[in-house]
Amino acid sequence: MKENLNIDWSKLPFDYMRTDYNVRCYFENGKWGDIEVSDSENINMHIAATSLHYGQEIFEGLKAFRGVDGKIRIFRLHENAMRMRESATGLCMEPIPVELFEEMVLKVVKLNERFVPPYGTGASLYIRPLEIGMSASVGVRKASEYLFMVLVTPVGPYFKTGFGLTNICILREFDRVAPKGTGRWKTGGNYAAGLAAGELAHSKGYSAVLFLDPREKKYLDECGPANFFAIKDGVYITPQSESILPSITNKSFMQLAEDMGIKVEQRHIPVEELEEVQEAAACGTAAVASPIGEIDDIDTGHKYVIAKDGKPGPITTRLYNSLRAIQYGEQPDVHNWCTIVE
Ligand SMILES: Cc1ncc(COP(=O)(O)O)c(C=O)c1O
Repeated sequence: MKENLNIDWSKLPFDYMRTDYNVRCYFENGKWGDIEVSDSENINMHIAATSLHYGQEIFEGLKAFRGVDGKIRIFRLHENAMRMRESATGLCMEPIPVELFEEMVLKVVKLNERFVPPYGTGASLYIRPLEIGMSASVGVRKASEYLFMVLVTPVGPYFKTGFGLTNICILREFDRVAPKGTGRWKTGGNYAAGLAAGELAHSKGYSAVLFLDPREKKYLDECGPANFFAIKDGVYITPQSESILPSITNKSFMQLAEDMGIKVEQRHIPVEELEEVQEAAACGTAAVASPIGEIDDIDTGHKYVIAKDGKPGPITTRLYNSLRAIQYGEQPDVHNWCTIVE
């Protein structure tokens, strides 16, 4: 018998909380084994595992929502499975079969159903699949054994301001990834490489860093753990770059914008073009869309005031509301983005 949950759902932070179960699957002797259900928060691994020494680690982040009809919806399960395969290939790891990924995510959500926050609280169940190289190696080489696991934890909004304006900054002394490096894959090393810049930004009162392209420092790249988009004269513009993660939220917004008759341009965006945009936002699974008030280029001292009237812009608000409505089952899911957990 599990203890009763005593969670104040509407005050949840974006942080880890213990749930009932996680699921695991090992790749050994050239094949994936059976799915294991565990109630332990620990794993047993070799001290010379490639994930510990040479960064063979990839992950994903997606969410499950309790809808207006009481049903649980997982947003863009298939897209996340596909992206994790891309990351695996990029890091010379074993790609997880899409069906295995989907089966394990559905299973772990079902097993932890009581942790899916109630409808109307603004909270959701964050799903974190991860894969790590397990074989022992002191030489730099790929592992022959891997562990794929999925854990879940209920979360509140990523940015404390929720759907309120947030200020971000450009720090030219830092790059997060290399031009043709690992930025397009979701691997832990990219996040470690962005920590120092993130800490500095936070210490100056900003919620995130807007990284520039690492080759020329001329174009916008992405916002720490989120993509970037802006609205310029009614057009949705978002960076085209070889060093950013292809955000599934951004892809969804591009589709919704097109559905609303809004033109979409995915292209290089010079920093100076920020002068000409009327709206801007960071977008990703965690933040959904976090509207940006001001972007400060710390090293040049230039301040780009985006939200001149001090509130989120109309197009960002429309896109945000539309995406949320699909996730909560309030609006028809015409693109089949949600998987209902039976
Ligand atoms: C570096 C980075 N960029 C962008 C995103 C947004 O991607 P998505 O919308 O798929 O969550 C994330 C978060 O997953 C991220 O970590």
